[in-house]
Amino acid sequence: MTTRIPREPLKTDRLLLRPTSATDAERAFEIQSDWEVTRMLALASFPPNRQEIERWFADHPNEWAAGDAYRFAVLLDGKMVGLVDVDGIGEGCGSLGYWFDRAAWGQGYAFEAARAVTRFACGELGLLKLIAGHAHDNPASGRVLAKLGFRRLNTVELFSRPRNEYISQCLYERGDTALDGSFGER
Ligand SMILES: CC(C)(COP(=O)(O)OP(=O)(O)OC[C@H]1O[C@@H](n2cnc3c(N)ncnc32)[C@H](O)[C@@H]1OP(=O)(O)O)[C@@H](O)C(=O)NCCC(=O)NCCS
Repeated sequence: MTTRIPREPLKTDRLLLRPTSATDAERAFEIQSDWEVTRMLALASFPPNRQEIERWFADHPNEWAAGDAYRFAVLLDGKMVGLVDVDGIGEGCGSLGYWFDRAAWGQGYAFEAARAVTRFACGELGLLKLIAGHAHDNPASGRVLAKLGFRRLNTVELFSRPRNEYISQCLYERGDTALDGSFGER
């Protein structure tokens, strides 16, 4: 990406999505201290490593400036309840990811926030295709992707760092045909 994208928040009905920075690391550490959250994140360590998370968040503004990744802290009533990002950007394609505090599950926040970031990716970033994936035992994430208009592709074996074993990962994509502004079933 050559166009500089301003680091501005996205708003939804209930949520504010603010570009992440180093100050979000502590809350992210707290959220990822829950095994039920982190076991679904293939690249995360468990228990979480505070310094690793701090380094990662400190680098987010650089990633944004370089056009490599765009990550948003999801705020509900001013408190960070999750993160949605699009990373691995190249050749018109990016990868959508998200994770939320367990206390915030089941209220449609992941879909609402991921929909805003999907629109941002297809609109402001001009991406033509998004990919995503979830562990075989994470149907809630599959449901979020289906509602966003992602199409299930196939299943691959992927090493899960927190589980320390290979797991089946279900892969998805959302391409040109989903770029007409429709978002799956909602
Ligand atoms: C996956 C996750 C982001 C979902 O967050 P959420 O805010 O609860 O998601 P939403 O409420 O927007 O949508 C969840 C959908 O899954 C459905 N769902 C929940 N549990 C389910 C299950 N066991 N089986 C099938 N569907 C399920 C819900 O009913 C809802 O669908 P609906 O709107 O049609 O009723 C959240 O559970 C999470 O952060 N998990 C840990 C990290 C993670 O898995 N990240 C994604 C990695 S791929």
